Amino acid sequence: MKKLINIVIAIVASVSMVSCFNNKKPNYQYFPNMYAPVGYETYGEYGIFPDQQEAMTPPEHTVPRGFTPYEYENSIAGLELAKAELKSPYEVTEENLAVGSQLFAIYCAVCHGDKGDGKGILATREKFLGIPSYADPGRNIVLGGIYHVETYGLNAMGSYVSQTNEKERWQIAMHVMDLKAALNGEPGILETSKAGATVDSTVVETKMAGTNTASK
Ligand code: HEC
Repeated sequence: MKKLINIVIAIVASVSMVSCFNNKKPNYQYFPNMYAPVGYETYGEYGIFPDQQEAMTPPEHTVPRGFTPYEYENSIAGLELAKAELKSPYEVTEENLAVGSQLFAIYCAVCHGDKGDGKGILATREKFLGIPSYADPGRNIVLGGIYHVETYGLNAMGSYVSQTNEKERWQIAMHVMDLKAALNGEPGILETSKAGATVDSTVVETKMAGTNTASK
């Protein structure tokens, strides 16, 4: 009997020690000043904003910092236009070619092959078909056109905008022109650009038409 009373006392004591604290709700805040932010929280809901959304779409014509708008259309006509008139804003230098060569090995060689002959590993294993050689005379591979396909992709080839920045795409394009010259047994793009060759694709202008200066 005594044992039973002891057990009952023990149960009552332990139950009474458990408080009714609800850990799903915030506890009592003593000096709450520092808990809630004064500013608007990112993605927060506030009546003052349209749709009560703190996160709003940027105003029209807003350009992100460091982003250069690309004005050629993603179409065959856009590609032809880029081939005809788009010039690199960067000079052909040994340094740019070296960087371009490295990036080409990372992003392009799997399909196009180290030499640009269209015999990359994915081509020889027939994972991707229709990969051209840069020397294909029917293609008219020039700097502006290469930059265009790097930007938008072309059919089975994807865009490289998310992996590379603007300068890197021009550096890769320079290397592709070098590969094309080598395939054709011609001197490299560095020599031809130094010699002031008038071949459109190798003339390098310092200013690109339509380039926004937002990145400066
Ligand atoms: C997944 C395989 C693949 C990869 C990777 C790839 N390409 Fe291509 N590329 C293709 C295919 C396929 C075509 C032919 C597209 C067509 O004409 O339908 C092509 C076409 C081209 C052309 C010819 C465009 C023209 O004017 O006809 C160029 C230049 C080119 N690629 C450059 C590059 C560069 C530079 C890279 C790396 C940044 C790259 N490619 C990565 C598959 C690839």
